[in-house]
Amino acid sequence: MLPVAARSPRTALLALLWALLPGFPEHVELEPLPQWQPVGENLTLRCQVEGGAPRTNLSVMLLQGEKLLSWQPAKGTPVAEVTATVLARRDDHGTNFSCRTELDLRPQGLGLFQNSSVPRQLRTFVLPKVRPHLVTPGIMEVGTQRSVTCSLDGLFPASEAQVHLALEDQRLTPTVKYSKDSLSATALVEVAPRDEGVQQLTCAVTLGNQSQRTQESVTIYSFPAPNLTLSESEAPEGTVVSVECKAHAGAVVTLIGDPDESPFPSAQITLNATAKDNGRGFVCSAALEVAGHVLHKNKTQKLFVLYGPRLDKENCPGNWTLEEGISQTLRCQASGNPIPKLDCRRKGDGALLPIGESRPVTRDISGTYVCRATSRRGVATHEVVVNVIYQQSNLVTIIAVTALILGIAATGGTVAYLYNRQRKIRKYRLQKAQEAAAMRLNTPP
Ligand SMILES: *[C@@H]1O[C@H](CO)[C@@H](O)[C@H](O)[C@H]1NC(C)=O
Ligand SMILES: *[C@@H]1O[C@H](CO)[C@@H](O)[C@H](O)[C@H]1NC(C)=O
Ligand SMILES: *[C@@H]1O[C@H](CO)[C@@H](O)[C@H](O)[C@H]1NC(C)=O
Ligand SMILES: *[C@@H]1O[C@H](CO)[C@@H](O)[C@H](O)[C@H]1NC(C)=O
Ligand SMILES: *[C@@H]1O[C@H](CO)[C@@H](O)[C@H](O)[C@H]1NC(C)=O
Ligand SMILES: *[C@@H]1O[C@H](CO)[C@@H](O)[C@H](O)[C@H]1NC(C)=O
Ligand SMILES: *[C@@H]1O[C@H](CO)[C@@H](O)[C@H](O)[C@H]1NC(C)=O
Ligand SMILES: *[C@@H]1O[C@H](CO)[C@@H](O)[C@H](O)[C@H]1NC(C)=O
Ligand SMILES: *[C@@H]1O[C@H](CO)[C@@H](O)[C@H](O)[C@H]1NC(C)=O
Repeated sequence: MLPVAARSPRTALLALLWALLPGFPEHVELEPLPQWQPVGENLTLRCQVEGGAPRTNLSVMLLQGEKLLSWQPAKGTPVAEVTATVLARRDDHGTNFSCRTELDLRPQGLGLFQNSSVPRQLRTFVLPKVRPHLVTPGIMEVGTQRSVTCSLDGLFPASEAQVHLALEDQRLTPTVKYSKDSLSATALVEVAPRDEGVQQLTCAVTLGNQSQRTQESVTIYSFPAPNLTLSESEAPEGTVVSVECKAHAGAVVTLIGDPDESPFPSAQITLNATAKDNGRGFVCSAALEVAGHVLHKNKTQKLFVLYGPRLDKENCPGNWTLEEGISQTLRCQASGNPIPKLDCRRKGDGALLPIGESRPVTRDISGTYVCRATSRRGVATHEVVVNVIYQQSNLVTIIAVTALILGIAATGGTVAYLYNRQRKIRKYRLQKAQEAAAMRLNTPP
């Protein structure tokens, strides 16, 4: 018990006194624990006790909370070290470890004296040996924003995990959602023209002193829409218009309507503008291949053709036979761009024909009219004859008077015959006229 023979007599004397006189330990300390302890790995607890006598009556306890882990005599001078190994578990996270000495001087009639170390809190963690799951768009267009998500399951304690998301060396600021044992971090990536090319997107999840990372490539491309140009967007009829579609570097275009639709970096068609081309749309579709994806961008342009004014039989019949008293809408339309103004005036008195209004036909609209369509491009005229058929209510009287003058002993039968015949003729004419009109005229029921 007294290995002091080699020391000076003074030291040997002090050691002897120290061994004999009872005294509390001067210092009881639990060695610092690792900042983070992986679950499933052994943790060694070390407790150092300085002083305390007599050593034969001094023991050391290692405690987790109030739970006794190990109880050993204090061995070693002048500092006694006591160790214990524990397998770290999830449940140990947040628990306190401490070490306590007991100087048992009860046999000497002095009692039991305890001294404790400052407690140390343990933090345990689980970071699975798998790479985080990184969801990226794969390709991204310059000037756009997309979100990327990185997630990892099986974390403990998930809320303590840190995420680092970066596009090359440009750090992103993700919004992190924690659940019981996982996390999911979402960040917006915005790419600028200087980022064009293949870039690495990295996600690293750090927990405790460990980290897991994943990398994915993102191809950043620029793809401006093609340029679709018309030599004239408002062309007078009969002018030659060229339509040209040009792609930007790397892309090819297809101009819809081009007989030679094979894709080239540019395409062109020329046409002699006709009234039919007014409002015609041209579509230029550019295609670009980026990392195995074929992308399209389209441009549309409309051609406006200035023509007319025009008045033709199809849209304005030249001969209208109408029946008095029947409601009808008189239709006459002039075509042209710009849209012409139209009026039809009767020859002679200049009365206006009520076009486009639904109203009962009166006999006084009969006559020959000149329809005139006017636009800043000129004037077109068209003659329209309007016949109104009406009841000849005085016919019977005329026939009766004629018969009287001629002195013929006319019977009611003859008059009736004549009247009926007259009526049949009129009916027949009307029928014919209506048939003729129906072919050209849109008559509402
Ligand atoms: C040890 O405990 C005793 C009482 O049990 C106390 O008087 C003494 O100061 C303690 N020593 C240390 C170093 O804490
Ligand atoms: C993490 O900490 C443990 C315990 O302190 C240690 O054994 C291990 O080497 C450390 N790992 C890393 C990657 O630093
Ligand atoms: C932990 O230590 C015990 C003995 O103290 C040993 O049996 C066990 O294999 C160790 N476990 C690990 C994971 O090192
Ligand atoms: C205390 O030490 C003495 C000898 O120094 C021994 O006889 C006694 O049994 C010890 N008591 C305890 C409780 O260890
Ligand atoms: C561990 O000790 C710290 C102070 O050191 C205390 O705040 C905490 O509540 C203790 N934890 C437990 C589980 O006792
Ligand atoms: C365009 O078509 C019009 C009518 O068909 C014709 O008169 C004209 O000469 C044509 N212009 C050209 C340049 O071919
Ligand atoms: C498309 O038009 C813009 C200006 O309108 C021009 O700067 C650009 O060079 C054109 N691109 C191509 C491929 O012609
Ligand atoms: C562009 O045109 C191409 C070919 O006509 C078509 O497949 C594609 O869906 C169009 N894209 C858009 C955005 O309109
Ligand atoms: C109009 O039609 C009537 C019969 O429906 C016909 O007799 C006449 O000749 C036609 N006039 C013109 C100008 O077409």
